[in-house]
Amino acid sequence: MRDEVIENLEEEGAPPLPAPPCTVVIFGAGGDLTKRLLVPALYNLRRMGLLPDRFRLIGVDHGERTVEDFRQGLRESVEHFAKTRGAEAGAFDADAWQKVENAVEFMRADFNDPAGYQRLGEHLDEVERTHGTAGNVVFYLAVASRFFAPIALALAAAGLMRQERDSGRWRRVIIEKPFGTDYASARQLNEQLLSVLNERQIYRIDHYLGKETVQNLLVLRFGNGIFEPLWNRQHIDHIQITVAETVGVERRGGYYDRAGALKDMVPNHLFQLLSLTAMEPPNDFSADAVRTEKVKVLDALRFADAKHPGECAVRGQYVGGAVQGQPYKPYREELDVAPGSMTETYVAMKLTIDNWRWHGMPFYLRTGKAMTKRLSEISIQFKHPPQVMFRDTAVDKMIANRLVIHVQPDEGVSIRFGAKVPGPTVKLGRVWMNFHYFDYFDAAPSTGYETLIYDCMMGDATLFQRADSVEAGWRIVEPLFDAWRTDPYRNFQNYPAGAAGPQIADDLLARDGRAWNRMAWHPGESKRS
Ligand code: BG6
Repeated sequence: MRDEVIENLEEEGAPPLPAPPCTVVIFGAGGDLTKRLLVPALYNLRRMGLLPDRFRLIGVDHGERTVEDFRQGLRESVEHFAKTRGAEAGAFDADAWQKVENAVEFMRADFNDPAGYQRLGEHLDEVERTHGTAGNVVFYLAVASRFFAPIALALAAAGLMRQERDSGRWRRVIIEKPFGTDYASARQLNEQLLSVLNERQIYRIDHYLGKETVQNLLVLRFGNGIFEPLWNRQHIDHIQITVAETVGVERRGGYYDRAGALKDMVPNHLFQLLSLTAMEPPNDFSADAVRTEKVKVLDALRFADAKHPGECAVRGQYVGGAVQGQPYKPYREELDVAPGSMTETYVAMKLTIDNWRWHGMPFYLRTGKAMTKRLSEISIQFKHPPQVMFRDTAVDKMIANRLVIHVQPDEGVSIRFGAKVPGPTVKLGRVWMNFHYFDYFDAAPSTGYETLIYDCMMGDATLFQRADSVEAGWRIVEPLFDAWRTDPYRNFQNYPAGAAGPQIADDLLARDGRAWNRMAWHPGESKRS
């Protein structure tokens, strides 16, 4: 079956090239991100043949450890990754790992001490001489956000960000999230970075852009003829974007209690999904063309009632409950969360894009923790067709078509439409056509960071955020911060862990005669609705 379905796929083009020789320097090498995601991603790139042979990985951290300990910790974590999340669970490619491990080094340094950067510079020169890395370096800042600017400024002051036009030597820096905590701080961070770096050297990561289905959005929309003519307010009733998680705040209570669901997820991940869904076709696939179209969406995005942003959003916090049958404690009892915390763990909102294509059409967004199920999807709800032809039949309600792009966990695309229920009378049934990624393609082993790290090594910033788009994201949500500060209890309602959100989120849509897609089931899972 699988062979039949892939038969008609176009011949693959030339295989992708390995990245150019380079060194990756990870600041925050002792942290969770490095172990759980970054190094497994490098290992996967090695397995895919995309890591250059002339490659070094230097972990920098303030904690003391030997290179043997560092390598050992990474190996365990990659083995664990391969067993649980690799393409074929259980398969650990010892050979590929050994190649990565041989390239791993460790350097202890205090991020605030200029002498550390001096030593790093000397070491990079030596690595270039002995390992032929051509002086190319990706500096990955996997550190707490307060270190982003100090590290970038110190790297530049030590001359480590200097590029060379003649030799083609490049220096790039990947910045993790959160990029600022509001519009003013994001702007300030951009200003600091841009005072010493060129925008082309800065790769602001949003790991949602590394997700396969998110990238597929562009192909779905612009690589096919049938969707785009309908992709506007004339044919679409509304669009819903859901990012629901079953996990709570885990060990990140300290950060999360200060951030909350809005800051943690909306100006970054949800707006990235929204802008790819709503953008105009770019002139070409270049980083600037794509990012310019995305930022134009954000420039026109606002709360549906711009004068009353507080009425366009609702929020809530989870109290005790059960998630997928397991008892779940209240948010306020999580580690490092204030006992009387009013931080929202769920937020939903109604927005609109004030441009020709979307004017007046609502975009509903929701995200939350400790919810019914892990589910990220973009749902395009088309308008009801006219009843005309069926007015004298038993069909009392036409079925509105729905296109759902499943971002995770089961990646794919589904279309809902009406079909005649077999039998002598005319009755309409809701049916789904489903495309699952795994039915058609071999899943590349992925942490979601492979594409992003590879793209950075290749100098392709398409899937990274430009300064203007980060700032635009914060600017849009800022009116809500003000509204919530003024009235901290307004539109705030708790929900039991394991629910699909608070009741007021349902009311937000019910006021418009609409409802959220059900979370209990999604069309990827079964043929029956
Ligand atoms: C992170 C947030 O950026 O994204 C987390 O800080 C959240 O709170 C995570 O859990 C969700 O990512 P994913 O890839 O699991 O959907």
